[in-house]
Amino acid sequence: VAGLNRRRTAVLISGRGSNLAALIDACRDAAFPASIELVISNKADASGLAVAAQAGIATQVIDHRGRSREDFEADLDAALRGASVDLVCLAGFMRLLTPGFVTPWYGRLINIHPSLLPAFRGIRVHEQALAAGVRISGCTVHFVRPAVDDGPIIAQAAVPVAADDTPETLAARILQAEHLVYPQALRWVASGQARIDGERVAIDRVTAPAGMLVSP
Ligand code: GRF
Repeated sequence: VAGLNRRRTAVLISGRGSNLAALIDACRDAAFPASIELVISNKADASGLAVAAQAGIATQVIDHRGRSREDFEADLDAALRGASVDLVCLAGFMRLLTPGFVTPWYGRLINIHPSLLPAFRGIRVHEQALAAGVRISGCTVHFVRPAVDDGPIIAQAAVPVAADDTPETLAARILQAEHLVYPQALRWVASGQARIDGERVAIDRVTAPAGMLVSP
């Protein structure tokens, strides 16, 4: 679309980067309302860094070890502002962010979590879901607030839990849904269709895709 000003976006990772790869693929469409300008990892061995480099995207490693959270986050913020980024996607980013970082980015910082929030916050998510005996799990993309895995929900995908599921088999099934939902959620946020309304997110002109149960 001529003159479409795409939201300059950064993706923060700590590891594999399969969600990053899905976001990069979505941004290959020139009509997609976001462009990934920078990928930052807190771990130098994150294989997602190679995914970004292969796509010609700038990468940066900001090590958190031996530093205060505030120092680490000051470098993070400087790198984002230095790249004129105004939208940030956490994708397998395993560091807790303090209110000092989250609050100024509120409304422009989103995350994906592999459960149907508010159920099963935190870590060992699939172990929690299996222990609870749920029949449906899934993933959630939400705006980030300071509390862990908290914030207005943008989109979710529901995934069936099999009787013989292990945390690994459930994680793998949910990951496929993540790769569909995250790009969709980024599209709605970057285009301005998704607007925070208190505890909720209103999304204009949404038509959920057929097939996967994805409810914004
Ligand atoms: C995903 O399951 C995501 O939901 C969680 O950590 C995993 C990251 O995977 N936050 P990847 O690095 O995107 O492959």
